[in-house]
Amino acid sequence: MKHLINITDFTTEEIRDILDLADDMLADPRKYADSQRGRILATLFFEPSTRTRLSFESAMLSMGGSVLGFSSAESSSAAKGETLTDTIRTVSNYCDIIAMRHPKEGAPMAGAMKSNVPIINAGDGGHNHPTQTLTDLLTIRREKGRLDHMVIGLCGDLKFGRTVHSLIGAMSRYEGISFVMISPPELRVPEYILRDLDDRKIPYRQVETMEEVMPELDILYMTRVQRERFFNEADYVRLKDTYILDPEKLTTAKKDLAIMHPLPRVNEISTRVDDDPRAVYFTQVRNGRFVRMALITRLLEEANA
Ligand code: CP
Repeated sequence: MKHLINITDFTTEEIRDILDLADDMLADPRKYADSQRGRILATLFFEPSTRTRLSFESAMLSMGGSVLGFSSAESSSAAKGETLTDTIRTVSNYCDIIAMRHPKEGAPMAGAMKSNVPIINAGDGGHNHPTQTLTDLLTIRREKGRLDHMVIGLCGDLKFGRTVHSLIGAMSRYEGISFVMISPPELRVPEYILRDLDDRKIPYRQVETMEEVMPELDILYMTRVQRERFFNEADYVRLKDTYILDPEKLTTAKKDLAIMHPLPRVNEISTRVDDDPRAVYFTQVRNGRFVRMALITRLLEEANA
C-alpha cells in the first residue's frame, strides 16, 4: 500500500508525474469530472485547517467522488479517549483513502501501519506537510518553468514550520539549489535537517535579516510564527513580528522573484504586497486543489492495481 507520509516517499519522477497530471487537470478540469465516482475520501483533521482540508474535499468532489470526516478531535471519539490507530482501523472500513492532520509528529506514519487504505499526511505537528510541498512545487514549476538552479529564501519560523521542512526535503533533490534560511536564532531549521543537507553537500546559509539577502533570491518563502507550537506565550509575543514583508523591503528584489507563503498569514506579509505581480500565495491556494486531485488519483490507481 503506497502512502504519502514524507515528501521523499515519492521519487522526483513520481513527483513530476503528479505535477504533469495536475497541470492537465488545471487546463481542463471537466475531463476528470467523473474520474473518482463511487470513491470516498475521509478527511480526519485533529487540528484546525482551512486550505488543506477544504482543498482535499474540493479535489475529491471535483472528480465525482464523495467525502466524509471530521474537522476537530473534539467532534470525534478521540475526545472519549479512542487511540489514533483504532480510529484509523475503523475509518479505513468506510472509505477508499484518508487525508489526516494531527498535532503529534509521526501520527500519520503510525496510522498508515494500521490502515487498509492509503494515508496522506496533511500535516503532523511541527514535522512535515508533504501535500503543501506538492502545491509549492507545482507553483514554482508553473511560475519559474523549472525546479532546479534557484536560490530559495525561507523566512520566519523555520523550527516549527512543517511546510519548510518538507520543502527543503523536496527541493534539495534538484540540481543547483541553494537555501538561504532567514530566522531568529531561536527559530532556526532543526539540526537533523541541517545535518542531512551537510551530508549531501547541499549549500545553505543561515542569516537573521531578509534585507541582506533579498537581491539574490529567486523564491522568497515566508512563514507564520507557529503560536500553537510554543511552550511559552511570552516567547511567541517577542518573536511573532520579527519579519514583516512590505513593498519597501522588496525594492532590491529580483523582478522575477516569486513571493510564496503556505498561508494562513498573520502579520508577516503586509496586504500592500498582495497586488505585486510577484506575490503568488493565492496562486498556491488555487494550485493546491489540482495537485491534490492528481495525488488522490495516483494513490487510488496504485491501491487498486
Ligand atoms: N497551508 C495550510 O496548511 O493551511 P491550513 O492550515 O489552512 O490547512
